[in-house]
Amino acid sequence: MMRLFSICLVIILTNSCKINREHDTNDDILLIEKAFNQLQYASAVKKFDYISKEKIFPRSTDKTGKLRLVDKKDWTSGFFPGVLWLMYDLTKENNWKGKAIEYTQVLESEKFNASNHDIGFKMMSSFGLGYKITNNKNYREILIRSAKTLVTRFNENVGSIRSWDHNKDKWEFPVIIDNLMNLELLFWAWKETGDSVFYNIAVKHAKTTKKNHFRNDFSTYHVVGYNSDSGKVVSKNTYQGYADESCWARGQAWALYGYTMIYRETQNPEFLKQAENIANYIINIASLPKDYIPLWDFSLLDIEKEPRDTSAAAIIASALFELSTFTEYNKTIYLQVANRIMESLSSNQYFNTLGENNGFLLKHATGHKPMNSEIDVPLIYADYYYLEALSRKIKIKNN
Ligand code: GLY
Repeated sequence: MMRLFSICLVIILTNSCKINREHDTNDDILLIEKAFNQLQYASAVKKFDYISKEKIFPRSTDKTGKLRLVDKKDWTSGFFPGVLWLMYDLTKENNWKGKAIEYTQVLESEKFNASNHDIGFKMMSSFGLGYKITNNKNYREILIRSAKTLVTRFNENVGSIRSWDHNKDKWEFPVIIDNLMNLELLFWAWKETGDSVFYNIAVKHAKTTKKNHFRNDFSTYHVVGYNSDSGKVVSKNTYQGYADESCWARGQAWALYGYTMIYRETQNPEFLKQAENIANYIINIASLPKDYIPLWDFSLLDIEKEPRDTSAAAIIASALFELSTFTEYNKTIYLQVANRIMESLSSNQYFNTLGENNGFLLKHATGHKPMNSEIDVPLIYADYYYLEALSRKIKIKNN
């Protein structure tokens, strides 16, 4: 197996000079080349065990700096195949496609995993991207099955998809802001099958979240707890943020990305307005540092002491690029901020030097600060949304 990876690595590296040169700016080509050269994950994945199919997906680094691999059940498992698909899309180099197919396929059995809401994250970044690029009919069947699995977590009384089954002592029916991201799988299934059940559940969840997860300034609560019989809100808390009444940066980023995507799929102006209000909070109300890379919670101000979160920055950039295509009014400011974030993320301060940090692209991300877990580390989903943002940036320029 090691031999296979060594061969893959050699193929990937020797092809690094053959990047597709169709893109219209040298800057973007340089960024793709930088990503291309850095993504030497194959060399780092030393524990790949194709027989047991366990712990093969790069997620982060551990406290000693070693690569942290997770198995397919982890909420982040789809992002590594997603990174490979994005690299294929950006470069049209078949080596990336081959690896993307290989890693995507391992996730198939997750189509039955109804133990939390994360099926949307996992399947859309892997099979969803793969289907868009290859039109593989088998991927289509896997995605439809996955959407049916996600639907089983919907509760009519609450009008939402339940996020977690853990922490039952604290939340009977928890819904987290991140859950908006899983709705993309339902919209996709509705468009593919014509079955309005998928659409209706997605829209209902989006409306319930819009009603209960936001403060007057459009900052977000991370976790809303419901009573599953009455459907009533019983608590508003945080899990990964600084405090119940603070605004966790990645949660706010999921909200921006979520409502931008929901507007794309529904064309309902109510959701566009929501996305714009959330963007307004991030750009004008939250105290963003000069380089536009947020601290891990928007309510914190101590730039010297508090870690940044490049994953939140990358998600915000990607969302703002898309949002800029939906509105003439704020288009310029959204593009300016998204480009500024990309400039910062691509600088030496946030982008790893070649070979650093096990081949991840970005550093200085924060996973779960209150749990003292994944602080100031690379995170695979930061890399995924960075590459997606880069791809959107290039498409906007080319149009
Ligand atoms: N969805 C989990 C997270 O953003 O950390």
